[in-house]
Amino acid sequence: MSTATPRIDWTRRHMPLLAGIRERFVETKPFDGMTIGFRIHLEPKTAVLVETLLAGGADILAIGNQGTTQFDTVEHLIDAGAVIIEKPGESKDDIRANLATIAAAKPEIVLDNGAELIVRCLEEDNHPIGATEETTSGAILLREQYQERIPFPVIVINDSPLKAIVENKHGVGESTLDEIVRTTNVMLHRKRFVMFGYGWCGRGIAMYARDRGADVTVVEIDPIKALEAAMDGFSTDTAESAAQYGQVFVTATGRGNVIPYELIEAMPDGAILANAGHVDTEIDIPTLHERAGRIESTTSVTRHDLPSGRSVFVLSDGQMVNLAVEGGRGNSIEIMDLGFMLQAMSLERIATGAADLVPGPQPVPADINDSIAVAMLASFD
Ligand SMILES: NC(=O)c1ccc[n+]([C@@H]2O[C@H](COP(=O)([O-])OP(=O)(O)OC[C@H]3O[C@@H](n4cnc5c(N)ncnc54)[C@H](O)[C@@H]3O)[C@@H](O)[C@H]2O)c1
Repeated sequence: MSTATPRIDWTRRHMPLLAGIRERFVETKPFDGMTIGFRIHLEPKTAVLVETLLAGGADILAIGNQGTTQFDTVEHLIDAGAVIIEKPGESKDDIRANLATIAAAKPEIVLDNGAELIVRCLEEDNHPIGATEETTSGAILLREQYQERIPFPVIVINDSPLKAIVENKHGVGESTLDEIVRTTNVMLHRKRFVMFGYGWCGRGIAMYARDRGADVTVVEIDPIKALEAAMDGFSTDTAESAAQYGQVFVTATGRGNVIPYELIEAMPDGAILANAGHVDTEIDIPTLHERAGRIESTTSVTRHDLPSGRSVFVLSDGQMVNLAVEGGRGNSIEIMDLGFMLQAMSLERIATGAADLVPGPQPVPADINDSIAVAMLASFD
């Protein structure tokens, strides 16, 4: 037994939606005779998804996303019957070779996280009957560079309104606040908390920060979203003005240089900065390192001494704070149960009805969203 098995048992126990569909898959075997080329983080929550697909008759040929693979989870999955070709410590060249190996195996279906495997299949003319793509960034790549060249359906999981509400708003909101408080060990009550971005993630982070007693101000460049923040009861302000008084600054915009170095120079002594967005360029960390040095204060917290004599503190060097801080575990298991249920049902739809789907990137079919919402509500009882 792998050392990960008890952890995966614990995770499975908190994934009631996948447990439900697994029972159905055991009966219907929608993936019988099919190989799923699988590329997503390999950790206990995705392990339960892999188990579910195996129960549906799939052969799994998998690698993880770079840097996040837990190899004791891999051991567990190999025992369960999956084929995983990733080895510890692989270079970018090894990863490219692994992607090529999966594409050359001509999987009937692809599950991707970042679209690299889908692109590889396209470039080698090894077309699956359909694919799913987990992320917005992967979907943007496919839509902007390959739209006309994709002859098979690609269901974009991140386009689901359910994922936006449950994962981005509540999952990221809760886990971001959890990791900020756990990592800093600092109380948020009455702290002046500045939220950059009031999209799905920003709404959640602002809401959970308020729940913890912080005084939240929202900085948002879209006037409609800024109005929404105000109607939701938050103060709104410009970045330049909020930089003068904020004590905790968090970004979740998906854009680069949202907090440029000049803005950091204006912040009060002791300001704490963190990013929850996917890219680690939302805060201008390179200039901060260059001009204000970098001293490890405590685990995942670095101090930067500005020429003004003030210091600011950055969590996990501006990488996604809910995942990248030491011990960060991301969204809760139940939240990912919903995300992976979207995956399982979309993969089933491809396996059983790809011909009825249009080619190219597309949202999760509406009936799948509806049935998962019903199932999640029922799981609360
Ligand atoms: N940490 C996680 O676990 C996690 C999970 C899901 C998504 N994400 C990432 O979080 C980021 C945000 O996702 P989302 O779903 O909220 O996106 P979204 O598009 O709904 O919201 C982004 C918001 O940021 C605003 N914005 C853009 N530039 C700005 C600026 N300079 N100043 C202030 N506001 C600005 C936009 O107007 C928009 O309202 C993305 O990078 C996404 O990939 C992270």
